[in-house]
Amino acid sequence: MHLGVNIDHIATLRQARLTAYPCPIQAAKDCLEAGADGITAHLREDRRHIQDKDMETLAAMAKAGELHLNMEMAATDEMVAIACKLKPQAVCLVPESREELTTEGGLDVAGHLKRMTDVVARLNDAGCAVSMFIDPDRKQIEASKTIEAAVIELHTGHYANYVGDKLQAELTNIQNGARYAAELGLVVHAGHGLTLDNTKPMVAISEIEGLNIGHAIVADALFVGIKQATADFKVLMQR
Ligand code: PXP
Repeated sequence: MHLGVNIDHIATLRQARLTAYPCPIQAAKDCLEAGADGITAHLREDRRHIQDKDMETLAAMAKAGELHLNMEMAATDEMVAIACKLKPQAVCLVPESREELTTEGGLDVAGHLKRMTDVVARLNDAGCAVSMFIDPDRKQIEASKTIEAAVIELHTGHYANYVGDKLQAELTNIQNGARYAAELGLVVHAGHGLTLDNTKPMVAISEIEGLNIGHAIVADALFVGIKQATADFKVLMQR
């Protein structure tokens, strides 16, 4: 199972003081050394964590064959232009609003078919494998197929926050969504809010080929170091 480590929050710590440290690029190298299969980074419109220079450096490393880069971004003209220039191997389109603490839900692909078709076509032309970050909803899965995205990333943020019956119901939604998407020929990833405590049920869903995990790895790294934090997830993700 592919582990993409999201290094945004290394940059969050750096931006809190506008210092040169901690360095997200060094973090990326350490994660890869510890077994991460790829690096994910989100260039937000408000540049609250990852900066343009970070993404440029990661893209140069990707181009040199040193890493698999998944660039998360909103479907804006500014971001599409940056991605088409940097050409990361993968782009994950996410909804974004300035007020949110973090990405709060999946994209409404079905509600923006025309715009999304255009954005995905431009990114496909640039050679990026495009992933749609969506809730486990049949309508959104079908829409992702319609617009010719190759990949979907199922939003696990609600699953991560719920308890009891709601948690079970959301787990069932993710299981069914992953199966349905795979039947349609989509590559299935998942992510958001995953921790050492709640990741195992995602590993058990055979259709999910990769997970993107950030906040928990950076948080665990405070106590065990980022290499160990990455390796702990890799062990959990063995099938
Ligand atoms: N996947 C997507 C699409 C995301 O937006 C994020 C957060 O940036 C993640 C995965 C990782 O989430 P977390 O930091 O909660 O592990």
